[in-house]
Amino acid sequence: MFSVYKILQRNQNFTTTREIIKKTLFTSTACHLQKENGVNDNIKNVTVIGGGIMGAGIAQAAAQNGFHVLVVDNDEFTQKCLVNISRSLDIIARKKFPDEPKGAKKFRDDIFRNIKTTQKISVGCENADIVVEAIVENIGIKRSLFNQLDEASPAKTIFASNTSSLLIEDIASLTTRPEKFGGLHFFNPVWAMKLCEVIKAKQTSDDTYNKLVKFAQDLGKTPVKSVDTPGFVVNRLLFPYLMEALRFYERGDSTPEDIDTAMKLGAGYKVGPFELLDIIGLDTVKSAIDGWHKNEPENNLFKPSEILNKMVAEKKLGRKTGQGFYKYKHIMY
Ligand SMILES: NC(=O)c1ccc[n+]([C@@H]2O[C@H](COP(=O)([O-])OP(=O)(O)OC[C@H]3O[C@@H](n4cnc5c(N)ncnc54)[C@H](O)[C@@H]3O)[C@@H](O)[C@H]2O)c1
Repeated sequence: MFSVYKILQRNQNFTTTREIIKKTLFTSTACHLQKENGVNDNIKNVTVIGGGIMGAGIAQAAAQNGFHVLVVDNDEFTQKCLVNISRSLDIIARKKFPDEPKGAKKFRDDIFRNIKTTQKISVGCENADIVVEAIVENIGIKRSLFNQLDEASPAKTIFASNTSSLLIEDIASLTTRPEKFGGLHFFNPVWAMKLCEVIKAKQTSDDTYNKLVKFAQDLGKTPVKSVDTPGFVVNRLLFPYLMEALRFYERGDSTPEDIDTAMKLGAGYKVGPFELLDIIGLDTVKSAIDGWHKNEPENNLFKPSEILNKMVAEKKLGRKTGQGFYKYKHIMY
């Protein structure tokens, strides 16, 4: 298991981040639960598999609300995950403690004390009350991961996937605990977005569903119940809209900039569809649409987009690679 300090110490570019945690580390030998009331009695240890955009956000939200958090990913991504968490905590701390540097520092230190990382699934799962999966949107990879998680986790552990487009039932199908398996669909950036869709698949027990709802609430989110249908509520409506914006651009009828401006000023959206594609990650949108297209080839809403395929092949994935429909100075991770 890696301490936050050890990981960030290696990253010489992030002086601020190292400063943030410098004093936290050796004052505690283990993660301490900060919050005494309000935490789901059955859930204290949260394991997040995948330290990318969503994994980092979920880990931060859980740590911020007093849970012990363990992030499982490879060395590179656990480092990037901590850097991302640090950056968003800086933003929150500046807002929360505008004139109190000590308060801001304590706020960040307390949260970092609750986060550890590991590259080993066995270590990540041994004490997990809940495992939240946030790895790449690929059914084969997710299934095989959950197979390993099932073996590595105690019987009491409940599982949740943060999938955007796959069926929870399909992901859970190889595990021995489908009744302890549900969906927790958070939104990006997790620290700012209030919604969490909680998915009750066919075999999810009422007990598991209720625990997931409570867990989402404990993370400060507003849970909305969703049936196990592709894209749940939000993405089933959102992705066809994003694809329609891509087709509009592909036909040469408008530019990403103009479409974004039009939808922000004319439809009242906070971000335009191309800005949103860059935030979500073009690879994630492509995986979702390709899957839906395969299942429903006649449905024009799910028709693949050439420009999307081309940009993914060129690794222009949006904010996470510094280039999507727009260019970004700060890569998201
Ligand atoms: N990006 C969004 O806006 C968004 C929103 C809601 C849900 N989601 C869903 O969340 C999940 C993750 O998306 P993301 O945007 O964070 O992706 P990402 O590409 O930012 O991160 C994926 C992470 O998974 C890790 N990973 C891959 N295979 C792994 C394995 N077997 N074990 C451990 N780690 C592994 C990678 O190293 C990477 O760090 C996907 O299912 C996606 O559909 C994404």
